[in-house]
Order: sequence, then structure tokens, then C-alpha cells
Amino acid sequence: MSLPAKVKLVEVGPRDGLQNESHPVSSADRIRLINDLGAAGLPVIEVGSFVSPKWVPQMAGSEQVFAGINRYAGSTYTALTPNMKGFEQALTAGAQEVAVFAAASEGFSQKNINCSISESLQRFEPVLAAAAQAGIRVRGYVSCVLGCPYDGDVPASQVAAVARELYAMGCYEISLGDTIGTGTPGATRQLIARVSDVVPHAALAGHFHDTYGQALANIYASLLEGVQVFDSSVAGLGGCPYAKGATGNVASEDVVYLLNGLGIDTGIDLGSLIEAGNRISETLERPNGSRVARAKNKQHA
Ligand code: HMG
Ligand code: MG
Repeated sequence: MSLPAKVKLVEVGPRDGLQNESHPVSSADRIRLINDLGAAGLPVIEVGSFVSPKWVPQMAGSEQVFAGINRYAGSTYTALTPNMKGFEQALTAGAQEVAVFAAASEGFSQKNINCSISESLQRFEPVLAAAAQAGIRVRGYVSCVLGCPYDGDVPASQVAAVARELYAMGCYEISLGDTIGTGTPGATRQLIARVSDVVPHAALAGHFHDTYGQALANIYASLLEGVQVFDSSVAGLGGCPYAKGATGNVASEDVVYLLNGLGIDTGIDLGSLIEAGNRISETLERPNGSRVARAKNKQHA
């Protein structure tokens, strides 16, 4: 398969990134990050989640964050919603799109959302119905597609079954999450080949955490398999609170650099993105997790 001319990046740093930072992040800092990302031309920005604050305290106050951001015309502002309570809050806050999240492994489903895979799919049904009524698109995440911290290996057939259910329920895009970053390009290609039997390539997205340093290679492998949407996190922020040891998503700056090198258009300004990543890294008092940003920062030092 030839490489696409365009790729859509879904920026998950303000949600997937900040949900796992031990350093407390104020609503003002969350808002500034999202505004910086909008200015850099990110087409989709996951602003936060409407989940139980007892489970993920870092995402409390997502409604204030939605209320405070500047909305750039070219960007879509989205939120994670595990159930109807979360969906209603997201709708009131003005989320333009929401995401439900399931897992391909029972162990992770229980630890992350306190129910089985099939119970989670039942919980999503009213969310999809209400979203259709409100004219809001719903994305579906599948976690642990290339391994689970609790159950170990996850068969591709199990991932395909959950992805097919979410797609059949009405999710317009299915994001395949390598939550613990153990996937390699060979396994990634096989997985996408298997899942694309039941969900069209155009409706698939790749979501790679970089724990084992494989994320960029897995993105390239996914491109070769016809995937054209990738999730990434500015400055490589974050991890997952229910996957111990998992590092952040692949850094958005590094993905843009890779795609620029392949002549693939993202519409994102790399310089502004690097500045956004530098600012949030300073706020969090952590090193910038993007290799590209670190290299460029040294050139300008
Ligand atoms: P539960 O305890 O089974 O739910 O949690 P419950 O319905 O029994 O409710 C318990 C309490 O939570 C009640 O409050 C509810 O009102 C409240 P109480 O009466 O005790 O005061 N509650 C809520 N509060 C705010 N917003 C809500 C909400 N729903 C219930 N939406 C639940 C079930 C799903 C709520 C919980 O397990 C939860 O919030 N989990 C979220 C975990 C999470 O956010 N994980 C990280 C995101 S997923 C991820 O990172 C993976 C991804 O990046 C892809 C990848 O990398 O693989 C997407
Ligand atoms: Mg994730």
C-alpha cells in the first residue's frame, strides 16, 4: 500500500498526558496548553475527560477547562466519557466530539472502568444513542491491543471483536491503543491486517505509547497498512494510571517530524508545537519527552 498524502493527528496530551502527571496542573495551565496546541494547528485536541474524580483526580475540572479555551476554527475539541453521566457533562461543557473507551482484555477493563468488556459495551449504548440525538460523533478506543499489564498476550481476534462491536454500535473511528507500548512493527502490521477485515482502514487510528521505544516504528508500520490517523501527546506527556510503568504517548513533535520527512501533510506548524511542548514541560518541571524538541532546543541554546 502506498503512503497517504495526508495524516490526521489527534492530540491527546491534555488528557492522556496530564491524567498521569503527578505534578498538579491547574485549569489555567491546562487551558494555556490547549490554546498553544490550537495555535500550532492541531486538528483534533482531546481537552480532558469526564470520569470519576476519585479514579482520575487530575481530570477534575474539565468543564472549567472547556469554558476557558479559545476555540480555533480548524480544531475540534473532544472529551473522554465512560458513561451517560460523563456524556451529559461533556455535552454541557461544549465538547464537539466524545470518546468511549473499552479494552481488548478483561483484566484491564476491570482495573480501568470497573466492569467487564461486555458490560462496558452495554454502558456505551445509551451514550451512542444520546450522541446521535445531539449530532455528536463518537470515537471508540480499544486499550491493550498489543498486550495487557494484567492478562499478558492479547490475541488479535479479541481486539478485532471489540473493534467490530464499537464500529457496529456507531463509533465513527476506532483508536487501537498499545497502552503499555510493548508492540513491535511486525505485530502491529498483523494486528491492523486482522482488524481491517472488520473495520475499514479509513475508520482506524493508531494510539501508541512509547514505553519500549517502538512507537514511531509502529506508526510507520501502520502507515504501510493504510492507517491515516494517529494519536500523540505533545512533549510525550503522560502514561496511564491503570498501566503501571507505561510511559507517555509518542511525542507529537516526533510524529510531525517523521511525517514531514515522508512528505505527508499534517497542517501542523512544528516550531509552534515545539514551543507548546517546552512551555508545558517547564510548568510540569520535567524534561521534554520529545527527541525532536530536545535536538532543536540544543541548536537554539
Ligand atoms: P464505578 O465506581 O464502577 O462507578 O466507576 P459507579 O457508577 O458505581 O459510580 C461511583 C461514583 O463515581 C459515584 O459517585 C458516581 O456518581 C461517580 P459517589 O456516589 O460515590 O459520590 N461517577 C462519576 N463522576 C464523574 N464523572 C463520571 C462518573 N461516573 C460515575 N462520568 C467509572 C466506573 C467508569 C466511573 C470509573 O471506573 C472511572 O471513572 N474510570 C475512568 C478511568 C480513566 O479515566 N482511565 C484513564 C482513561 S483510559 C486510557 O487512558 C486509555 C486510552 O488512552 C487508550 C490506551 O492508551 O489504551 C484511552
Ligand atoms: Mg493512552
